[in-house]
Amino acid sequence: TRVLSVASECAPLVKTGGLADVVGALPAALAPEGVEMRVMLPGYPAVLDALAREGTVMEDWDLFGGHANLIAATAAGLSLLVVEAPHLYDRTGSIYLGADGHDWSDNPERFAGLCWMAARVAAEGVAGWRPDVIHCHDWQAGLVPDYLRAQGARERTGTVLTIHNMAFHGLAPPTRIASLRLDPERFTPDGYEFWGRISALKAGLVGADKLTTVSPTYAEELLRPEFGMGLDGIMRERRDDLVGILNGIDEAVWDPATDPAVTSYAQPEGKAANKAALRAEFGLPESDGPLCVVVSRLTSQKGLDLLIEALPTLLSNGGQLALLGSGEGWMEEAFRNAAQGGQVGVRLGYDEALSHRMMAGGDAILVPSRFEPCGLTQMYGLRYGTIPVVALTGGLADTVINASPAALSAGVATGLQFHPVTADALRAALAHLCRLYADVNVWTRMQANAMAQPVGWQSSAKAYARLFQDVTRRA
Ligand code: ADP
Ligand code: GLC
Repeated sequence: TRVLSVASECAPLVKTGGLADVVGALPAALAPEGVEMRVMLPGYPAVLDALAREGTVMEDWDLFGGHANLIAATAAGLSLLVVEAPHLYDRTGSIYLGADGHDWSDNPERFAGLCWMAARVAAEGVAGWRPDVIHCHDWQAGLVPDYLRAQGARERTGTVLTIHNMAFHGLAPPTRIASLRLDPERFTPDGYEFWGRISALKAGLVGADKLTTVSPTYAEELLRPEFGMGLDGIMRERRDDLVGILNGIDEAVWDPATDPAVTSYAQPEGKAANKAALRAEFGLPESDGPLCVVVSRLTSQKGLDLLIEALPTLLSNGGQLALLGSGEGWMEEAFRNAAQGGQVGVRLGYDEALSHRMMAGGDAILVPSRFEPCGLTQMYGLRYGTIPVVALTGGLADTVINASPAALSAGVATGLQFHPVTADALRAALAHLCRLYADVNVWTRMQANAMAQPVGWQSSAKAYARLFQDVTRRA
């Protein structure tokens, strides 16, 4: 099957979160399943700088306000189609936000441009290559089914939309219907209209042949108002076309035995050197309690405000915290204040290499998210023998085996899950963590279980490959 994967980010070229990791990992994971996947990306400066260009394969004289070239290229082992459109993508700073911290006002057009070019590739082909299926990621690729229809390629092109996060809708005012080349007839509740506005995410949810999300539990949660972000009704209507396929992690990049960023180890004992180094790096003293780490965006989704509340419980039980993250100002401020006491170390910013050292050096990784479609850092933690302490939601529910009395006595626990997602429940989990840590036998057993748990792409790659085959139109 030939698949064009359409996304706004792709590791290692451009990344703000787990979406990039998944988009970057899928082509190699799917190749053994007979899927030939190319990735279509906006031509941000960081992407254009990293390319080995093969040539321009398509031109567009008016891609929402300017000229565009579609460039075939390779980078980091990926086969790419990159939309070079300076009026849309040649900007410094964040790929989504202007210097004022708000979305670029033309974000609807910027990602409409990506979708339009994807539809053209399906309609016309490029250099003899035409996709059987377009794999759309999140709202940024949500307009693909509408544009396929507009370009007469809907019938012969299969579409799959993967929801990485239901919280981002890609809204635009109805005054942009014409300029976004949308069919005004479809501005209805069963089309792309969402409470009087254009929703690119909804366009994809109603338009794609099949929907997936990144864990089985999040797939169920999306049917409920608490998690559906106003789109749970659509999800219930489409439940037969929705499947949760758990993300994997790139096992070559996240392997404590070969990771160039750390003192390599294959057994839990190997963490000791990394832990000492991490304490030194964060200016933390020796301690008998667990060294907890957090690597995260600092937003309300991630529930780290609950950790600020629960922190005294961790510290009074001898635990420590090393946090790497960036995001909302008040949360950055609160963690900076918490660092005053000497048992908490904080790095504000984004640092890939440091994130590896934290996985290797930490005893536990904390992920208290209010909702979490999948989550990747708890899986990195498992692989590095860094025990995940997670909220019982989404992919966090699917990837961790809670240290219940039964799981402990069966010797299968890999982490701790707490519920409901409140500061009190987190406090209890942190106190439990400290007790488990104090029992060397129990703790090493959990670490060994964690490190042995499969977290790669193998079975999920098969599920995607089957789905792509299902939506492929047969001649
Ligand atoms: P989300 O995509 O919702 O942010 P995920 O857990 O799926 O959550 O993915 C987050 C990814 O971003 C992981 O690869 C994580 O290691 C990385 N990450 C998040 N914040 C930072 C940071 N400050 N520095 C380095 N890596 C980070
Ligand atoms: C989103 C979600 C995260 C998921 C990632 C990759 O960013 O917030 O839970 O792991 O997408 O699918």
